[in-house]
Amino acid sequence: EAPAPVRATLRGTIGELPVGTALKQTVVVPTYNERDNIGTLLERLASALPANDTEIVFVDDSTDDTPDVIRAAADGYPIPVTVLHREHATGGLGGAVVEGLRAARGEWIVVMDADLQHPPEVVPALVAAGRRDGADLVVGSRYAGGGSRAGLDGGYRRLVSGGSTLVTKVIFRTNLLQVSDPMSGLFAIRASSLETGELRPLGYKILLELIVRNRPGRIVEVPYAFQPRHAGESKSSLAEGLRFGKHLAILRFGAKRARMLVFAMIGVSGLLPNQAALWLLHAVFGVHYVPAAIVANLIAVGWNFALTDALLYRNRRQHRSFAGRISRFFLLGNADLLLRVPLLALLVSGLHVGVLIANLITLLVSFVLRFLILDGVIYRA
Ligand code: GDD
Ligand code: MN
Repeated sequence: EAPAPVRATLRGTIGELPVGTALKQTVVVPTYNERDNIGTLLERLASALPANDTEIVFVDDSTDDTPDVIRAAADGYPIPVTVLHREHATGGLGGAVVEGLRAARGEWIVVMDADLQHPPEVVPALVAAGRRDGADLVVGSRYAGGGSRAGLDGGYRRLVSGGSTLVTKVIFRTNLLQVSDPMSGLFAIRASSLETGELRPLGYKILLELIVRNRPGRIVEVPYAFQPRHAGESKSSLAEGLRFGKHLAILRFGAKRARMLVFAMIGVSGLLPNQAALWLLHAVFGVHYVPAAIVANLIAVGWNFALTDALLYRNRRQHRSFAGRISRFFLLGNADLLLRVPLLALLVSGLHVGVLIANLITLLVSFVLRFLILDGVIYRA
């Protein structure tokens, strides 16, 4: 469990408001090293929003002095500003946004980026649309009529953005089709419709998380023009892209079945060293198929352990020492020979199935069994 965020109370914070004060809106801004965008962002937000009915909550994971810059800019600023600086950036951008949603006191909560790709002037329109249309969620959309994505620099970013939007819509065909921009980082949500306890944020696509897990009632869209970044550079990366893939799989299949999917992919990749070693030993060097299959299995188990431990259960490794993990993994991976060798003998000697095909069949049979033991025993959370 991550420790609670460290709350730095600033001038005029929400903490000083009388208990029970209902604000019209909270603007939640996640920040990661955005020092050069803070000044302009706050200036434009102050021009766009009423000071007396609004609060701004920054949720910061910066390694630079962004919190100090916010603190300085908030001095004498008309709207109350709070900074939550997290010691552990759990869940990345999405985790930060959820902290902000939890802290927010507004009847409406608007989430926007700090780099001015989301024009602050759109914020009132989001809240107004939600109130007017009785919506739970208002999505700022680059794709709805009147919106644009001019700020998406370069064909590559556009391709990635458009491609992932399409894939996401195909995967969640039924409930997401009504939203033209499910990847948007700009949206407003009616606080009463939120259930933050349901959320399992993982990286950038917090809106997707909200739509899938909180199932807001009515969703409407407000078009806006996505701007070029004001200062600094984007924090999205290839690692963030992989995290998005994981997020999608978990949202679609559930965490355990998503792990089983990855385990299957690792297992499939292990077929290559397994079959290659068996072929080399049996067909090339003439080793009897039983010892050959055993050695091939050892090689594949080593391969599988490396990938499973480094990728699939990276976050659960601390529960057990390396020696404890690898010994149990090998025990499990080779215990499966107790099942596979007799099965192999039956197939090859009894039913005259080819050695490589028979080996493959036994590998598939043991797959589900091994996953269940791995997931429920060796890496039990
Ligand atoms: N607290 C916190 N922690 N904030 C973060 C983190 C993090 O780990 N990573 C990024 N941020 C903040 C940035 O400081 C910025 O304010 C905002 O989140 C968006 O980050 P960018 O790095 O500017 O993202 P982007 O421009 O590539 O992507 C944005 O636009 C996409 C649409 O094209 C985001 O809004 C995406 O969610 C959106 O899909
Ligand atoms: Mn950006």
